[in-house]
Amino acid sequence: MSDRKFLTRCLQLANYARGNTSPNPLVGAVVVHKGRIIGEGYHHRAGEPHAEVMAIRSVKDPSLLPESTVYCSLEPCSHFGKTPPCSHLLVKHGVERVVIGCLDPNPIVEGRGKDYLEQYGIQVDVYEAPEAFEALNKVFFTNFLKKRPYIALKWARSQDGYVDHVRESVDVPAASISGPLAAINTHKLRAEYDGILISAKTLVLDRPRLNLRYFGGKAPRPIIVGSRTLKIGPKELSAFEISPLIVTTEVIPGFDCIQVDPRDVAQWLPKLLEHRVFSVLVEGGPTLQSSFVRTNLVDEYHEYVSSETLGHGVPAIAINPNSTIMLGSDQYNKLIG
Ligand SMILES: NC(=O)c1ccc[n+]([C@@H]2O[C@H](COP(=O)([O-])OP(=O)(O)OC[C@H]3O[C@@H](n4cnc5c(N)ncnc54)[C@H](OP(=O)(O)O)[C@@H]3O)[C@@H](O)[C@H]2O)c1
Repeated sequence: MSDRKFLTRCLQLANYARGNTSPNPLVGAVVVHKGRIIGEGYHHRAGEPHAEVMAIRSVKDPSLLPESTVYCSLEPCSHFGKTPPCSHLLVKHGVERVVIGCLDPNPIVEGRGKDYLEQYGIQVDVYEAPEAFEALNKVFFTNFLKKRPYIALKWARSQDGYVDHVRESVDVPAASISGPLAAINTHKLRAEYDGILISAKTLVLDRPRLNLRYFGGKAPRPIIVGSRTLKIGPKELSAFEISPLIVTTEVIPGFDCIQVDPRDVAQWLPKLLEHRVFSVLVEGGPTLQSSFVRTNLVDEYHEYVSSETLGHGVPAIAINPNSTIMLGSDQYNKLIG
């Protein structure tokens, strides 16, 4: 029971850094002496000390460490990176027991942290229900296990299933579907992703800024998926605050491009990792989103449903509600805002 309580605290601590640690995982750690928390820490951002280091440093009386249990949401590392291995630190301080939320999927760790601790006589327990700890690091796990970025699709649709009127030009205004609460929530979501992806068609029709205006944090990098029929160039691409990455058959001089057939999502998606894009929010439109669904490359869905109808227009993608995370209710629609 108390293991669960202290591991839950690790989850809370880890989440303080959400959106800041990429490409590193979110990790929280707690030091417990005779049932009392005597130290806590979390990994703030890549390059900075790991959670275990922060937790050990926060302990006022280090003489208590040999009688203490250290709880970690993720297995302590065993390799020398930008910082020395945390498993070595725990051995150095001679802690009595370590409880781990889940093992690290990174092939350079993958049980080695646990083995190292055990070699030095530390009792190590891996929590029996690791799901919440793996979900905490859904991006990190997807990167290692599926060798591609984590993918979330997000869109807003009318009650009758349309994402917009059918339009040919930016001069015709887009349908107004979602309201201020949806916008705040979308920008909060954007802050958690490394990349935000749209098609050249949506770029030309909507001219979206793809930035963070209603929520703090680091804005994702725009990724524009090119078209065979629509030409885009510096005029459209220079409007972003962050220089976009373009997926295109023809290189656009002056822009960072992945030269590939944009239709072949399975081929270019893993290449985003080379550009340090470890998670992507796909904001559309629906034809592009469908190609992710068809190729089974979606990890999460966010659908906002307005209470208004459009009557006709561009149909939203159809999803199976049993297999999705659905966000979207009246509180997000424009009538409330
Ligand atoms: N409400 C919302 O949340 C929301 C969000 C985004 C967009 N929208 C609206 O959606 C509308 C556009 O949606 P749409 O479905 O017509 O177009 P889209 O999905 O934005 O773009 C589709 C086009 O992208 C190109 N493409 C490149 N790679 C592709 C791939 N892997 N799979 C599929 N297409 C790929 C193709 O152009 P080529 O055939 O020329 O190669 C394709 O016709 C606009 O009205 C926009 O305002 C609404």
